[in-house]
Amino acid sequence: MSLSMDSLARIALDLQWGISNQDRFQQLINSLRQLLLCDALALLRYEGQLFRPLAIDGLTPDVLGRRFRLGEHPRLEAIARAGDVVRFPADSQLPDPYDNLILPSREQLKVHACIGLPLFANQTLIGALTIDGYDPAQFDHFNDEELRLIGALASAALSNALLVERLEQQTVAPIANPLANKPGADEIVGLSSGMLQLKKEIGVVAGSDLNVLIMGETGVGKELVAKAIHLASPRADHPLVYLNCAALPESVAESELFGHVKGAFTGAIHHRAGKFEMADQGTLFLDEIGELSLTLQAKLLRVLQYGDLQRIGDDRSLKVNVRILAATNRDLKGAVLAGQFRADLYHRLSVFPITVPALRERQEDIALLSGFFCERCRSQLGLGSLALSKAALALLQRYPWPGNVRELEHAIHRAAVLARAEQGLGEVLLKPAYFSLEASVQADSQNPLTPAKAATAALAVGLRDATDEFQGQLIRQALESFGGNWSATARHLQIDSGNLHRLAKRLGVK
Ligand SMILES: Nc1ncnc2c1ncn2[C@@H]1O[C@H](COP(=O)(O)OP(=O)(O)OP(=O)(O)O)[C@@H](O)[C@H]1O
Ligand SMILES: [Mg+2]
Repeated sequence: MSLSMDSLARIALDLQWGISNQDRFQQLINSLRQLLLCDALALLRYEGQLFRPLAIDGLTPDVLGRRFRLGEHPRLEAIARAGDVVRFPADSQLPDPYDNLILPSREQLKVHACIGLPLFANQTLIGALTIDGYDPAQFDHFNDEELRLIGALASAALSNALLVERLEQQTVAPIANPLANKPGADEIVGLSSGMLQLKKEIGVVAGSDLNVLIMGETGVGKELVAKAIHLASPRADHPLVYLNCAALPESVAESELFGHVKGAFTGAIHHRAGKFEMADQGTLFLDEIGELSLTLQAKLLRVLQYGDLQRIGDDRSLKVNVRILAATNRDLKGAVLAGQFRADLYHRLSVFPITVPALRERQEDIALLSGFFCERCRSQLGLGSLALSKAALALLQRYPWPGNVRELEHAIHRAAVLARAEQGLGEVLLKPAYFSLEASVQADSQNPLTPAKAATAALAVGLRDATDEFQGQLIRQALESFGGNWSATARHLQIDSGNLHRLAKRLGVK
């Protein structure tokens, strides 16, 4: 036996003292790394066909945001199926989920020692511990019995944490829906204090029936928050109906919201239910609520006040039971003061306001989100591995992300496509050159088009041309930072999107 009972017991005792689960997991990983003298170690949680890293050591920081699908990672699948300690032969041909993700070097890991311990609670798989070492014979002196003890220790820590989590959820959301924890597509990734606070607020408000106003800049994840609230609410088994108020021409808006009866107006050839009716018993998500016209605001308010509505062309009123979630990237309070948004509607909608923090205010989430999107791109593009170079991650962490998470997602996708074209489908490494961010960071900081410079330019070429030049440059810059998204650019520049398109055409930007 090379592990002393003493050291194991001490680790077990120390785990009692961890404050948060996150700290506790990290402490477990740190102690085990010292004990096993391995080069990389990860504690993974198993949920619905994927493994989610809870704590890591010796791996690049973005690994914490990666979600490993079982079907795409044969080593993890082998661990999940094994029921006992798995020792991969040093020359195993199975691709490693951590290919190129182990610190510090890329090349050393081709042949290495790798052990997987499945973690169980009451015979159910709840997670795994992966142990990697550069030296192929590194773990030969540990016998299976010792490794099982380590597995038991980790299982106990993980199952305790899961139990506590479940108890906490029960106190805030009495009807916790299993879908609320559905991994994958709609997960809100983030461990910064701002995001932990946000997740707590989501948990608290989901169980209530209050209307929620979700605020935050473009691309911060407001829509994800709306979905999360609905899925964790008692209404989760009923529909979540989506309506984008910005894409709602005045002429059809009323019918979209409230429906119409046959013959109510030219073209009304059938009865048609509005979004309110479709959302009955469920949730109606009014996206970009700040764009709703004053007329429609008045009509919406009436439904919120009395809970009944009339289809266009129908005298009868319908009772509906709908919870409203609204989102905006505008300063709605400011709009109220400016007379563009009804104060009474604002107060009804903002019973429980939630603000999603901008990405630059939670810099520690950038590595996590980058890993999340890298693993997703890897899978979508069919790559063997997709890693971020250290310099690339540093660049992503330095950039201010005016388009927030959406911009990061697009930047990684674009970089991965560029890298694939150069490096092929095997092992792909994202280097700073694949991101066009540095240029814009530099352009912003070193060469801003100041009013003084613009004025000098105007003297040289005339006011009209100088103004055109300035506008064109501004639009190009904004467009680039929003990943080519025209509507986000229009919002950012505070200009109607139709006007933006016309202007861009005239200036030759399009
Ligand atoms: N915390 C997060 N974890 C994972 N993905 C995220 C997160 N936040 C945002 N995303 C992703 O970023 C993209 C933009 O998010 P979303 O559409 O929710 O933003 P938004 O706040 O509604 O923006 P807009 O105001 O422009 O409509 C989506 O693809 C979403 O899945
Ligand atoms: Mg949105």
